[in-house]
Parts: sequence; structure tokens; C-alpha cells
Amino acid sequence: MTASQTQPLSASQATDASTNRPVLEVRDLRVHYATPEGDVVAVNGVSFDVRRGEILGLVGESGCGKSTTAMAILRLVQAPGRIVGGHILLDGTDLVKVNERRLNAIRWRDVALIPQGAMNSLNPVMKVKDQQRVCIAMAIALNPSLIIADEPTSALDVVVQRVVAQTLLDVKRRLNVSMILIGHDMGLQAQLVDRVAVMYAGNIVEIAPVQAAFSEPLHPYTQLLIGAIPSIKERKPLKVTEGLTHDLRRPPPGCVFSLRCPHVADECRAIVPALREMKPDHLVACHRCENWLPAGPA
Ligand SMILES: Nc1ncnc2c1ncn2[C@@H]1O[C@H](COP(=O)(O)OP(=O)(O)OP(=O)(O)O)[C@@H](O)[C@H]1O
Ligand SMILES: [Mg+2]
Repeated sequence: MTASQTQPLSASQATDASTNRPVLEVRDLRVHYATPEGDVVAVNGVSFDVRRGEILGLVGESGCGKSTTAMAILRLVQAPGRIVGGHILLDGTDLVKVNERRLNAIRWRDVALIPQGAMNSLNPVMKVKDQQRVCIAMAIALNPSLIIADEPTSALDVVVQRVVAQTLLDVKRRLNVSMILIGHDMGLQAQLVDRVAVMYAGNIVEIAPVQAAFSEPLHPYTQLLIGAIPSIKERKPLKVTEGLTHDLRRPPPGCVFSLRCPHVADECRAIVPALREMKPDHLVACHRCENWLPAGPA
């Protein structure tokens, strides 16, 4: 057990159960893939909420566990993967505990998944625009309370991307459905999501309203991610994080980003930082973020 896994979410995330309970409450979710060399810790105790009518973005570099988190929510992780711990509360029902029959009823009716790659295998005799719309129409046909869209626009050209993004926004507005939007494209995230959760090596390191995540990122990984967004206005050298993500079978003992962090200190190598609310609704898992926290009322 690590500190971040046992930490309850902040006061502002704890909502009144009867009136404004989040659609989805994920608590300390852990997913491993068994390999002959040991378990790959793909999701390492993540906790987050999806509030009613919001789009939550889930971002992070390839292999950080975004799709595994999405699949785990619907208990669709395939062997050798398995959920090893945690709770996934959908309107208060723990999906980790319900039987298969109940789960099958919940899939599609209550939670719809647009899986990664769903938009990539297009039928050459249909217009691209229509096929995308079909994927999304399937997802909303049963009026679910939550849609999980896993990289719905990757590998599409920008014009089609825009159609898909606009369709998702229309769906959200018309049905007031909640969404998790997984993606790499930070520009798209900035346009579409309400809050963003940043994942690194199986951990959520920051959750913030999208505006704050882009203008005042507090975790060094998020800062590097935002700093790497190219800008045509201000041509700057791309900041690249040095080093590679550690072997997911052997996470470091302290902060998950300690091997690549430009601000690493001794405590980061020894103690797992808890996800703490550093500003209203802005949660960060970093021992050192007080050092660059902007002055002002918290
Ligand atoms: N069958 C498997 N066996 C072992 N490891 C796996 C398996 N499937 C996934 N993993 C590992 O789990 C980790 C998380 O993978 P996941 O597909 O969830 O990442 P992702 O964030 O969705 O990446 P991408 O952005 O490339 O889609 C990766 O390090 C991956 O190598
Ligand atoms: Mg993925």
C-alpha cells in the first residue's frame, strides 16, 4: 500500500450522496498483467470521479495505463490482465463486485465504450463522416449515463477529427451524459474537456479543471507535457523529458516520476506522494509543488 492509494479524495470531490453524487467513483483501482518476469503494474491505485454532465479528459504518454483503466471500468480487461484491487462505483454500485449477468446489463445500457481503434477500420464504400457517426450513435443508442471514448480521433485527419469532436460535444450537450475522453492530443483536450486527469506509469499525478491544468500545471510531468505542445506563434525548442519510463514490473519506491523529474529530491526517491488538493479542485501528487505554487488564496 502506498500513501496515494489510501488517501481519500479531497473535500471538494466528496459530493453529497443524495443530490450530486458523481456518476462514477473510481477508488484505488489496480490492474496487473501477469508475465513470466513478474506482474506489469499497469494501473497502480488510481482514484478519480466523473461528475454528472462533465467530460473528464484522461491523458498521458503511450503505455501509461489509459486504456487499461477504461477497460477495467467495464471489467473488460483480458487475460493475462486482471483487476487486483479497488472499487468502481457507478451510481453507487460497485462494478468490481457485481455478477456477470448484472454487469452485462450495465454494459452499453449504462456505460458505453468507444474502444481505441474503433474509428480506424473504415469501410471504403461508406463516407468517413457517416461511419464515425455510426460508432458514436452505437455508443449513445441506449442513452447511457457514461460514455468512455478511448482516443476517438487518433489516426484521423484534422477535418474528420473536428467532425468527431463536434459530434461528441453535441451528444454531451443534448443528453447531458458524462464522458471520459482519453487522448494524446492536448489541443483537442483543451477544447473539449471540463477537467483533466494526467496519468504517468499507472498513476494519476494531477487532476485539475482544464484551464488550470494548461495555465498552471503543478506536477513536473504535466509541466513538461504542456511545455511540449508546439506553438506556431512562439517557435521554441521542444522540451523533451529525459530518460524512459521505468520498467512497470519494478516501480521505483518513491514518486513514480522520480527517475525523470528535473526537481527530484531525496524524499521523492523514498516516499510516495499523496494526491493532495493544492488549490480548489486541483489535486497534485508531488512533494515539491509548494515550491512553484503561485501565491494567492488557496
Ligand atoms: N497483455 C499484456 N501483457 C503485458 N503487459 C501489457 C499487456 N497489455 C498492456 N500491457 C502493458 O500495460 C501498460 C498499459 O497499457 P495501456 O494499453 O493501458 O496504455 P495506454 O495508456 O492506453 O497506451 P496508448 O496511449 O499507447 O494507447 C503498458 O505498459 C503495456 O505494455
Ligand atoms: Mg490506449
